[in-house]
Amino acid sequence: MSTRVRSFAKINLGLTLGPVRADGFHDLRTCYHSIAAHDVITVERRSRAGIEVCARGAPGAMVGDELAAEFARRVPCDETNTCYRIAEKLLQRARQPAGLLISIEKGVPVQGGLGAASSNAAATLLAAERELGIDLPPRERYALCVATGSDVPQFLLGGWSLGMGRGEQVFPLPEIAALPLVVVAPRIGVSTAQAFSDWDALLREDGLTAEQQSLRLDMFSQSLYSWLNGIHTGVSAEAKSGNRAEAPLLDLVRTGAVNDFERVVFPLHPELRESKLSLERAGAVFASLSGSGSTLYGLFASTSAAQDAARQLTRQGLRAFATSTLPRREY
Ligand code: C5P
Repeated sequence: MSTRVRSFAKINLGLTLGPVRADGFHDLRTCYHSIAAHDVITVERRSRAGIEVCARGAPGAMVGDELAAEFARRVPCDETNTCYRIAEKLLQRARQPAGLLISIEKGVPVQGGLGAASSNAAATLLAAERELGIDLPPRERYALCVATGSDVPQFLLGGWSLGMGRGEQVFPLPEIAALPLVVVAPRIGVSTAQAFSDWDALLREDGLTAEQQSLRLDMFSQSLYSWLNGIHTGVSAEAKSGNRAEAPLLDLVRTGAVNDFERVVFPLHPELRESKLSLERAGAVFASLSGSGSTLYGLFASTSAAQDAARQLTRQGLRAFATSTLPRREY
């Protein structure tokens, strides 16, 4: 027997970085949204001790077989793999003389800012719990996720959420209708740790004090608060004019959602800035780097507009595919 779980990716809608904390992590504020693009994780309990991780391209992945196989080749199948790390923690906790075989079918870019490795870890935990016949109390499940990576807990929730702290404190936001989007997956990978230290260097140049950096976090919260207030009171311009399904999300991006990582990642990789412009030229209502990149995404007003844009960008030589945001109830 084995357990199969879809491991959905996420995008960041706005990402404000704050000061470095005593533990070396950065305080941040972001909105996460899960998307329909996913990997598939299969976990099988074995009587022999030990953990084995293998990866292959997901058959029929929306990115196509060739690209899926390329993503799989870039997955480390050793003890550094997030699935391995979380499974090891669970086995220690379970004290069972068992082993686990973890198979990853890739459909989502690696080191792309879409949280694939973190999502894989959360999916592995849920599948491994079932294989081992354990039902962890939510608090313990959360703790294992936090110990594996800052954005892993977000994948226990899915849908639309606010991320705070180092990204591990997640709060569900009101559900909004699914929005079509196009993902552009450049060939380069960006190291998250490196992007954070480049950000620190930039701040040293800017001369921002820790207090000024914290103020930027407050501004993020204020924008989000105004937006939520608009939704609840129905005063958002879009909602008033046409009550279109996508209105709340588009209203949010118009509050000035910005990903701070663009300031350090774009100068290093100017082709990523170009890809963002290409998404905008192809009709995206809003385009952004996701997480620390290298993936970019664009939100579109309709599925056909997203599909047309993905085709157009592919003809221009970009690795682009259309997908959509995934509400929590479908997660
Ligand atoms: O938690 P995660 O494994 O995703 O973090 C990877 C690296 O990114 C950390 O070791 C740290 O250098 C950096 N990081 C950070 N502040 C955060 C999240 C991550 O500095 N909020």
